[in-house]
Amino acid sequence: MAKFRAPGRVNIIGEHTDYNDGFVLPFAIDRYVEAEIEIDSQFVFSSQMMDETIVLRKYERLGKWTDYLMGVIHAIDQKGYDVPPVRISVTSTLPTGAGLSSSAALETAVAYGLSKIMNLELEKKELVEIAVKAEREFVGVKCGVMDQFTCVFARRNHAIFLDTSDLSYEYVPLNIENFEFALIDSNTKHELSSSEYNKRRKECEEVLKILKKKSFKEVSYEDLRCLERTLRKRAKHVLDENNRVSVAVKALKSFDISLLGNLLYESHMSLRNLYEVSCEETDFIVDFLKKSGNVAGARMIGGGFGGSVLILTRRGYIEDVFEKLAKDYFKAFEKKPNLIKIKSSDGVNMCGA
Ligand code: GLA
Repeated sequence: MAKFRAPGRVNIIGEHTDYNDGFVLPFAIDRYVEAEIEIDSQFVFSSQMMDETIVLRKYERLGKWTDYLMGVIHAIDQKGYDVPPVRISVTSTLPTGAGLSSSAALETAVAYGLSKIMNLELEKKELVEIAVKAEREFVGVKCGVMDQFTCVFARRNHAIFLDTSDLSYEYVPLNIENFEFALIDSNTKHELSSSEYNKRRKECEEVLKILKKKSFKEVSYEDLRCLERTLRKRAKHVLDENNRVSVAVKALKSFDISLLGNLLYESHMSLRNLYEVSCEETDFIVDFLKKSGNVAGARMIGGGFGGSVLILTRRGYIEDVFEKLAKDYFKAFEKKPNLIKIKSSDGVNMCGA
């Protein structure tokens, strides 16, 4: 029996750009989904988090967590292989619903594990392709490529500067000296997150259609003038956010923490006002942090409508900042946020490798 693990991810900057041929700057974190896999006489999936074990037929879609696993099997078969019945047991130290891409971690751990067990020798880009396909076609979430790419390609102490238009990438050292990244989970997940996500995707497709462009790479600020208000706001976010990613890479390389922090705040404001995917809870957290000492920057990460806020603080101050925030947050929303301290991590691998 072999065990494989894939990390969750945070994205420093470049939100809602990965399905618009744009730039992202994610890194993997030291929270993992682990999948133990062995050949069996039937498909048996179990999840410690869900506390259930399910026996199912090949390609059976149940509208629940098992779809991520079966989706991967389906995608591998579509490449011309024939995955035999397997027993897969999943455990995790990665919170779900916190916007840390637990689904991509699950998909890539299983894709990598099956590739190893079946001696398929799949390349990293093929693993990404399989995991994305599982999510888009089997699970039915029209995600971008960032999460799965990070789960596979991540390297400890580095962020990945990825151009999602052609998957070219560069590892950027995460050298932030006496600062550190941490996460504050808002403990909120609004129902509309997936419907609004798909709506934003459609709006961006609409922009390209109206402008008669094939890709956001060809869209300029002048082009935005002929768009109606909502579409103009969405498109402006994408162009601005791409510029911010490029500047953030330069800031990281030159250890300009204050510039990097300001870019995080700007990104949040844009996600809030132009792309309109934030929510009261994450806005509250970011507004609070802006007024706190020892915080360089913060912003919501992931698809939005809840999830986590990424914060860049001076090393050693995060608990202090969080404690104050948690009190005010509880007063406002009657729920507690969670502090998640993180380190960067490597991508998918065999456990113990
Ligand atoms: C989700 C998707 C990603 C990306 C982000 C927004 O996490 O899975 O592909 O689109 O939202 O940047």
